[in-house]
Amino acid sequence: MATLGIDFGTSNTAAGIAIDGVPHLIALEAEAQTLPTAVFFDFESYEMRIGAAASDALLAGAEGRYMRGLKSLLGTRLMREKRVLLGERLDFIDIVARFLSTVKTRAEAATGQKFDAALSGRPVRFHSDNDARNAQALIDLKEAYARAGFSQVDFMNEPEAAAQANRDALRPGDLGLVVDIGGGTSDFTLFRQRGADEIDILASHGIRLGGTDFDRSLSIGRVMPQLGMGSEIRHAFGNDTHLAPNAIFNDLATWAKIPFLYGPETHRAAADLQKFAVHPKRLARLVKVLDEELGHDLAFAVEAGKIRANDGKDGDEDPVIDVSMLKPRATLPLPRAWVRKRLSGLAEQIGAAAMETLKVADMEAEEVDRLIFVGGSSLMQVVEAALQDRFPQAEVHRGAALTAIVEGLALKCSSG
Ligand SMILES: Nc1ncnc2c1ncn2[C@@H]1O[C@H](COP(=O)(O)OP(=O)(O)OP(=O)(O)O)[C@@H](O)[C@H]1O
Ligand SMILES: [Mg+2]
Repeated sequence: MATLGIDFGTSNTAAGIAIDGVPHLIALEAEAQTLPTAVFFDFESYEMRIGAAASDALLAGAEGRYMRGLKSLLGTRLMREKRVLLGERLDFIDIVARFLSTVKTRAEAATGQKFDAALSGRPVRFHSDNDARNAQALIDLKEAYARAGFSQVDFMNEPEAAAQANRDALRPGDLGLVVDIGGGTSDFTLFRQRGADEIDILASHGIRLGGTDFDRSLSIGRVMPQLGMGSEIRHAFGNDTHLAPNAIFNDLATWAKIPFLYGPETHRAAADLQKFAVHPKRLARLVKVLDEELGHDLAFAVEAGKIRANDGKDGDEDPVIDVSMLKPRATLPLPRAWVRKRLSGLAEQIGAAAMETLKVADMEAEEVDRLIFVGGSSLMQVVEAALQDRFPQAEVHRGAALTAIVEGLALKCSSG
C-alpha cells in the first residue's frame, strides 16, 4: 500500500513521496509545489474549486462561497455544523475531506500510483491550552482523511518532519531548534544530530499563533476602525451612545470566520448599527463589505500589505493596504515602524514558546547551535528578532520556507 506524505497547512498544502530515499514533491498545481488551502463553491457553474483556482475565482468576483484557513476550525463545534452548498448538506469535515481527496487524486494522476494511506503533518498543538479541543481536532482531521478515501492515516509533528528534512544543516553532535512559523501555528522541535543521517528528537512544543494572527492584528488595528469598529452608536431612544460591539469586526479580521458572516442575522445587525451610528459613513462600509462579500478580499489586501511592510527597509516609501474594493483607488497607510510595534507582542509569545521547548528537554538557550527557520511567517523580521534575542549565539539556517515539512514527511513515504 503506497503512502502519500501530506502537509495540510492552514494557508498552504503540499504532498510528496520519497524516490530512492530522496524526497520528491508532487506538483499539485500546474506550476507550483504548494496549493493554497482554499476552496470555492461556485454558485454559477456548480463546481467546487480548489487551491489557486479557488482564490482566482474569489478575486475575479465570481458568485460563490470561498473558504480559507479551515484547519483553524478543527476541534471546534463549527466543524460539525452542516450547511447547504451547491445543493448538498455538508459539514466542514466534508469540505476538508473534499480538499484532501483532490490532493489524493492529483497526486495519483501525477505519479501513476494509488495512495490508500497518508502520512500527515500535524501541529504539536492545534489549540494552545485546551487539551479537549486539541484531541478533538485530531479526531476531526482523522475523520476528514477517512472521508477523503484514505484507509489509513498516521501523523507526524510538523516541526519533527522539518527536522528530518534539515538534518544535514547540523554537524554531528550539534543541537538544533526548528522554528516553524506557519499560517495558524508556531511549532518547535529541539533535536540533536547523531551523524549518519540520524537525529534524536529531544522535545517538541507549539502554540496556536501564526501569520493569520498577524493579519488579524493588522486588520483590527488599521482596517476595522474604518468600518466602524470602536465607533459610537446612539441608543434608539435618548442621547446616550455606546461603542459598536466588537464581535463582527473580530470575525471579519479572522480568515476562517469570514464565511460565517454572510447570513441575514449579521446583515441585519450591521444595518442597525449603521442606522444609529454617529459616523454612519464607516458603518456603511461594513454593510457594503457584508453585502458584496468582500471580507476575503480585505484579508488578502491586509496579508499583501503585511508582506510588503516586512520585505522593505526603513527609509523605503511606506507600504499601504490597498482597499480599492471599498472605494476606487483608496489605500490605508501601513508604516513599517507601526507594523513592528503592533506585532511585537505576538512575536514575543513565539519567542516565549521557543524557550518553553527548551524547558521540556531541560536545556539552556546557550546550548543551541543552530536555529532552523521554516514556515512562511518565519520570514517576518519581528519573528527573527524575537528568536535572535533569545539565542544570540546560535547560527541561523533557513530551510525551505514552504516545503520543509512536506519534504520530511515524504522521506518516510517510500513509493510502491
Ligand atoms: N514573504 C513573506 N513574508 C512574511 N510572511 C509571509 C511571506 N510569505 C508567506 N507569509 C505568511 O506565511 C503564512 C503561511 O505560511 P505556511 O505556508 O508555512 O503556513 P501553513 O503551513 O499553511 O500553516 P500552518 O503550518 O500554521 O498550519 C501566511 O500567513 C503568509 O501570510
Ligand atoms: Mg505549516
